[in-house]
Amino acid sequence: MTSCCDLPSRISLNHHLYSSGVPDKLRHLINDIARAGKYVHHAIRSSDLGLAGSENQFGEEQLKLDLLSNKIIKEELCESRLVHGYASEEEAVFQELVPDAPFTVVFDPLDGSSLVDCNLAIGSIFGVYKKGDVVGRKPSDQLAALYLVYGPRTILVYSAGKGVHAFFLNEVGEFVLLQRNLTMRDEVKTYSPGNLRAVKDTPAYRKMMNHWLDEAHTLRYSGGMVPDIHHMLIKGAGIFTNIGGSKYPKGKLRLVFECGPFAYIMEQAGGAASNGHKAIMDIKIEEVDQRTPLIIGAKSEVKRVSEVLNV
Ligand code: AHG
Ligand code: MN
Ligand code: MN
Repeated sequence: MTSCCDLPSRISLNHHLYSSGVPDKLRHLINDIARAGKYVHHAIRSSDLGLAGSENQFGEEQLKLDLLSNKIIKEELCESRLVHGYASEEEAVFQELVPDAPFTVVFDPLDGSSLVDCNLAIGSIFGVYKKGDVVGRKPSDQLAALYLVYGPRTILVYSAGKGVHAFFLNEVGEFVLLQRNLTMRDEVKTYSPGNLRAVKDTPAYRKMMNHWLDEAHTLRYSGGMVPDIHHMLIKGAGIFTNIGGSKYPKGKLRLVFECGPFAYIMEQAGGAASNGHKAIMDIKIEEVDQRTPLIIGAKSEVKRVSEVLNV
């Protein structure tokens, strides 16, 4: 006999997690991270965008949004009681919270902080590991990964190893299922070439850029990896790159906080993520804030870009 629990009129994030068989503790953690995301969403919409150390209209000192988001997320992870430790892009060292708790959470609290003043879409990125420092492990050790994109609507996308699923934050403050099983086709319609200044001293990157121009693909680049990769996952096609050059020899993006979680999600959606030589998922983490080139999106195109860059 089915009960009203089996067929709700809307599918909440929590319902989706338990009906997909995500283990209880991990389900609770993902719900806790989602709650942190709601507070970041609120901070983005309500803060008056002052600089760190400046005062708001009430004479209170305020934090820049990336530092404020970091503080919000830390407090929520602490309250969760499920987090042994965390590493944040804003702190870049492993911090212990609850010694006997089961999980480590890595996160970029606010990706795209330079886009805040222009009111472009920004995001938060999370990866979940078993407890302990992440140094010596690989992104393939993640148990789950998720991100929130704060655009005209706030959307959360998660994977806990059973596909990739998107939820939107409704007016009541609940994440409700928007689209299940986001899937990448092996197809490129759009390209998102990051750290493009690198074409100056990385001729192979210029060559790749010329291929995309000659093939008349559509440029989709906002300058925020969260909305740019989210775009590919929703359309089910595309390629995003952030390649090294003299200014950023390994590109701008970080393995632990940015590339690792997106590699997990992209592979779950049927796409690929590589540094040009090996899968991002298989790169050993040597230090918490290590950078890596990133080629992510449709499988064959990730392979083609890697080949062009390595010639
Ligand atoms: P953050 O705001 O956390 O420092 O990261 C911004 C990143 C990423 O979102 C984006 O893809 C990249 O910086 C953009 O770099 P370029 O504009 O140099 O391509
Ligand atoms: Mn970032
Ligand atoms: Mn950041």
